[in-house]
Amino acid sequence: MISMKDDLAVVLKRARATDELTMYVIVPDAPGLSFGAATVVQYVAAVAGSLVGFMLQFPCIVRPGKLVSAINNDDPNLKRILRYYDRTESRIGYLYLLRGTKHFGWYELGQSKWRLTQAMRRMEDELGERLDLPADAEVLDAGCGMGDVARTMATKYRLRATGIDILDFNIEEARKRSASSGLGDRANFQIGDYHKLDFPDVTFDGVYTMETLVHASDPEKVLSEFRRVLRPGGRLVMFEYSHTPEPELSPAAIKAFHQVCDLGAMPTWQRLEHGDMESLLKEEGFIVDSAEEVSKRILPMLHAFYLLGRFPYFVGRVTNRVPKVVNAMSGVEMWRHREAWRYNIYVAHKPS
Ligand SMILES: C[S@@+](CC[C@H](N)C(=O)[O-])C[C@H]1O[C@@H](n2cnc3c(N)ncnc32)[C@H](O)[C@@H]1O
Repeated sequence: MISMKDDLAVVLKRARATDELTMYVIVPDAPGLSFGAATVVQYVAAVAGSLVGFMLQFPCIVRPGKLVSAINNDDPNLKRILRYYDRTESRIGYLYLLRGTKHFGWYELGQSKWRLTQAMRRMEDELGERLDLPADAEVLDAGCGMGDVARTMATKYRLRATGIDILDFNIEEARKRSASSGLGDRANFQIGDYHKLDFPDVTFDGVYTMETLVHASDPEKVLSEFRRVLRPGGRLVMFEYSHTPEPELSPAAIKAFHQVCDLGAMPTWQRLEHGDMESLLKEEGFIVDSAEEVSKRILPMLHAFYLLGRFPYFVGRVTNRVPKVVNAMSGVEMWRHREAWRYNIYVAHKPS
């Protein structure tokens, strides 16, 4: 006979080994109770069991609210970014669903939308291939989150990655994960703001962003910083969203898009229409090698977010608490209004 403790250990082991979305459901018998009461007891026990399993797997989210940014910055947008990522829904959602990685996945035709981790690693391969740098090249991951992208660059592409992020809990977790995967100094992480980089000129062979420039309050300044720290000929690869000009959108799509950008603290996405990033790169002295729209590749993941987000978003709306379920709202509305945005990959370089 397997004890409850053994059960939990088996579930946790499987959760760590699999790359599928994992749900914990522990349903004890409730003898001696009428059907209705027993069902309620079982339901409450299942939810409690799920939470315990979840917290054991990701102890960092139950640590009391030690945050936030170590950056002393006057930019009011930074506070909004901190607010967004520190929301319970963001913390739990990113850790539970995506295991700390915060970017879309790249899906092959027919691939299950629920193979989230596999699709995210595949997206990181798209980055590694586009960086196209030799082993030991130095790269900057601007807005590294918990460092999974930098770790893929370090392990699979043999690059030396430095990740920066404004959120100290991201950097803390990034360092911990890298130490436990034995990466040594091939993947380093530090607190930093990409609007004013703390590196000398001509430090890096490559710079990349994975869904982070959307948060910038001054993208021109960020691109000029990227140019400064790149060596001549150095490569810049960015995975970022753009939006459809508003005259081409319905009022509902415009309203949804603004709400997503406001609550998600993404002023650069709100500003950049399709094609604007290419112009910006040229204005900031880059040579644009390619700009591809790859929205179709990420749609299965967005559809998964839509399915998962519908109920919490409904509850958020009826209780007038949509900001508390900002990710559920974004998943639902951006799926419904897919015509309002695009997912792009930009490749550019600094002239020699
Ligand atoms: C959507 S997440 C992507 C994280 C990571 N690239 C990944 O793919 O897992 C965006 C990240 O950008 C970071 N960020 C936002 N503004 C930033 C800034 N000014 N400087 C550095 N990082 C920033 C956020 O803290 C967040 O971790």
